[in-house]
Amino acid sequence: MTGKNKPYLAKLEKGKRYAWCACGRSQNQPFCDGSHEKIDSRPHVFTAEKTEELLLCGCKHTKSPPFCDGSHNNLEDAYEVASDEEIASSKAALQTFPEHQSQGKAILDGGSFVLSPDMLPSTEYGPVSVRSLIAQSDGAQHLNLVSFTFTAKTHWRRHDGGDTALYIFSGTGTVNIEGVAFSAAPETGVFVRQGEAFRLEPETPMYVLAAISPDSSPAHWLNATSGDFDKNFPDRRVGIDPAAQEKMADRFYQVLVGSEIGSEEMTQFIGEIPKSRAAFHRHLYEEAIVILSGEGFMWTRNRKAAVKPGDVIYLPPRQEHSLECTAPEGMRLMGVFYPAGSPAINY
Ligand code: FES
Repeated sequence: MTGKNKPYLAKLEKGKRYAWCACGRSQNQPFCDGSHEKIDSRPHVFTAEKTEELLLCGCKHTKSPPFCDGSHNNLEDAYEVASDEEIASSKAALQTFPEHQSQGKAILDGGSFVLSPDMLPSTEYGPVSVRSLIAQSDGAQHLNLVSFTFTAKTHWRRHDGGDTALYIFSGTGTVNIEGVAFSAAPETGVFVRQGEAFRLEPETPMYVLAAISPDSSPAHWLNATSGDFDKNFPDRRVGIDPAAQEKMADRFYQVLVGSEIGSEEMTQFIGEIPKSRAAFHRHLYEEAIVILSGEGFMWTRNRKAAVKPGDVIYLPPRQEHSLECTAPEGMRLMGVFYPAGSPAINY
């Protein structure tokens, strides 16, 4: 077997046919070289729909061949934690960022950063306080993150440039989307479709994170709603459900806002990791991570910054990184990324 417990990044050309090695014997991974003729296995032949780079399964355990579906994470001893050598080599070049503590933001490698929202300036619109956390002006491409603190019912908010994935960090109340009410409590995700207006009706002050993608502008505050709720997608709220958790070695995640409730652009998930440090890895997607509990460090190759509950991490697509949890009780986090997919897929 010459495959590996990670996917292969492959550049595919639109209209071209490929034969993905299903047996793991090929010397030309991830593609077939005919070695399977010696055993009872056939390649998976497919035609590329677009010219693009995709992750093709290397472990040969995927349930959606030829693509990686994250199955490699649950093979015995396959989830990679940082080796002693990796920790030693990255420590040698490491810079840490005291300004994160004093100015609220630490810039890491490749345009990634860590910020503490409560140290950034806010804009008040009556009973709502708004902070831009991740925007094009910070180097983001298609993922925007805004925080809202609501103390009373607000005007309606509408994002015309993209879908909105809301995450209720604290407080209780109602998320009203075009006149349709969804009760909201901590650790709940709510999906608002592009062009729909929503407002928060708090019972207790609510701190809410809104990811908007692929474009945050234009955004409007409106006095009234059109009542134009997209009834093709009636379910918009997802809370914690142990039965929906996906295991990934000794960690787990649950998708909140995803394709099941109509989100085709973004995926929002909640995850839990034990005291550990992952090996350096990358995702094809652009991602924001919010620390819900626990603490530790976000590492890139040459830099690291401490993270604590409430902190926000921004990772451009393909940014090499490793999140370390130093808390004995583990770390909980919310992640949201564009384009949509599985949080288990990395390379
Ligand atoms: S490499 Fe096989 S599922 Fe990811």
